[in-house]
Amino acid sequence: MSKSKVYIETYGCQMNVADTELVMGILNNNGFQLSQDIHDADVILLNTCSIRENAEQRIYGRLDNLKPFKTKNPDLVVGILGCMAERLRTNLIEEKKLVDVVVGPDEYKRLPEFIDMAFSGGKGIGVKLSRTETYDDIIPYREDGLQAWISVMRGCDKFCTFCVVPFTRGRERSRSLESVKAEVEHLSERGFREVTLLGQNVNSYSDNGADFADLLAACAEVDPWLRVRFTTSHPQDLSDKLLYTIAKYNNLCNYIHLPVQSGSDRILKLMNRTYTVEHYLKIIESARKIIPGVSFSTDIISGFPSETWEDHLMTLDLMEQVKYDGAYMFKYSPREGTKAYRMDDDVSEEAKTKRLQEIIALQQRHSTEINESLAGTEEVVLIEGFSRKSDKFFAGRTDSNKVVIIPFVDNISEGDYALVKINRATSATLFGDFLSIVHKREQPFQLAN
Ligand code: 5AD
Ligand code: SF4
Repeated sequence: MSKSKVYIETYGCQMNVADTELVMGILNNNGFQLSQDIHDADVILLNTCSIRENAEQRIYGRLDNLKPFKTKNPDLVVGILGCMAERLRTNLIEEKKLVDVVVGPDEYKRLPEFIDMAFSGGKGIGVKLSRTETYDDIIPYREDGLQAWISVMRGCDKFCTFCVVPFTRGRERSRSLESVKAEVEHLSERGFREVTLLGQNVNSYSDNGADFADLLAACAEVDPWLRVRFTTSHPQDLSDKLLYTIAKYNNLCNYIHLPVQSGSDRILKLMNRTYTVEHYLKIIESARKIIPGVSFSTDIISGFPSETWEDHLMTLDLMEQVKYDGAYMFKYSPREGTKAYRMDDDVSEEAKTKRLQEIIALQQRHSTEINESLAGTEEVVLIEGFSRKSDKFFAGRTDSNKVVIIPFVDNISEGDYALVKINRATSATLFGDFLSIVHKREQPFQLAN
C-alpha cells in the first residue's frame, strides 16, 4: 500500500506549533507521508486549543467545513489532537460523528496506532496524561528556516483559577538540559538563527539541579549568532540569576514576556496568581536595572468574576507604571472544570468589551510612544526576508522583538544581521535604513532534517 498522506492544521499557542512538529516527526518515522494539500490527504488532523471559548468554537466551525471531505471520501480519517481532545475526550466523537481519532498532548507516540485503528473502521482514542512524557527522544520535523520553537517543558502546576491548561496538559515536567542543548546545536548547524524555548512556565524548569538560567546559558553558548528567546515566565519564579544570565549573553534576547493578568491585588488573589502588584513592579524594576533596554510584554484579562470598575482602573494604572512594549489582551472566558468556573461570571459582556477596548487603546498608545522614542537609535536587526507588502523592502527583528522594515539593499539576505538606523515608527513597526552588515549567515544549509 502506498504511504498514507497526513495533513495537519495547528491552532492556538506556540506550544501547539512545536507539538505539531513533534507529531510530524513521529508520523514521518512511522511511514506516513506529510502533505500540504488537504484535498489529497488520507488523514486530516487538527491540533486544537481550549484556552478560551472562541478558540473551541473555531474548531467546531472547521469540523463543519470538513464534512464535505468525508462525504466525498468515506475512508478519510479526521482526528483532533491537543487541548480540546484532552478536555472533551469521547464527547467529541459522540457529538461530531465526523471525528475518528482523539489524542491528547501526552499520547502522541501512539498516534500511528490510533490512526491505524481508524483505518480499520474503529475509533482511536488516547487521552491519558503522563507525569513523565517529555518527548525527549523524538526529533521534531522542521522545514529549513531561520526560527524554531523548542519546547523545554510540558504541563503546568500553577492552577491559575481561570486556566484550563493544568487540566489539558497535565503536570509540569522538564526535558533534560542535554537534549535541549543538542537540539539547539543541530539547529545552529542547519543555519537557524533564532530559537525560542517554550513552556507554560519556563522559570520553574528543573533538570538534575540545573534551573532555567542554566539552561539558557547552555543554549546561548552553542552559537553566538543564534538568538535565544523564551516564553512564558510566571512572575513568581523569575529569579535575579535569570536576569543576570540574560544580561551576560549578547545572544540572549532582552525581551521578557511576563503575564500580569490584572492590576488589582484582590483580583490577582482570586486568580491564584501568587504575587501582588508591588512584587510584580519590583521584578520589572530589577530587570530594568540589570538588563538595560530590556523590553516587556504581558497578558491581561478583562472582566474576571467580580472585577469592578476600580479594579479595572488599577489595571490601567499598572500599565501606565510599566509601559509594556506589547500585550496580549483578552476578555475573560469561563472554562468548565476550573475554579473560576464556579464563581459568578458577573461582569456583563458590555463591560468586558468596554474595559478591553480601553486596555487595548492604552497599550496602543504605549507601544507607539516606546517605538517613536527609538527614532535616531541604531539597532542590530536579524533579516527575516522581504517585507509582507513588497520585495522592495526587507523585514527583520530587533533583539527586543520589534519588527523593522528597511529598503532593499543588494548585499544582504535572509539570516544576516544588519546594523540599522531607525528613523520612524508606528505602534507595531519600526522603519529604518541599512548602515552595515554585522554578520552574514553561512550558506547553504549543511544538514538535512
Ligand atoms: N479567559 C481569558 N483569557 C485566558 N487566558 C487563559 N485562560 C483564560 C480564560 N479563561 C489568557 C491568560 C494567559 C493567556 C495564555 O491566555 O492571559 O496568560
Ligand atoms: Fe494557565 Fe496560569 Fe499555568 Fe499560565 S501559569 S498555563 S495561565 S495555569
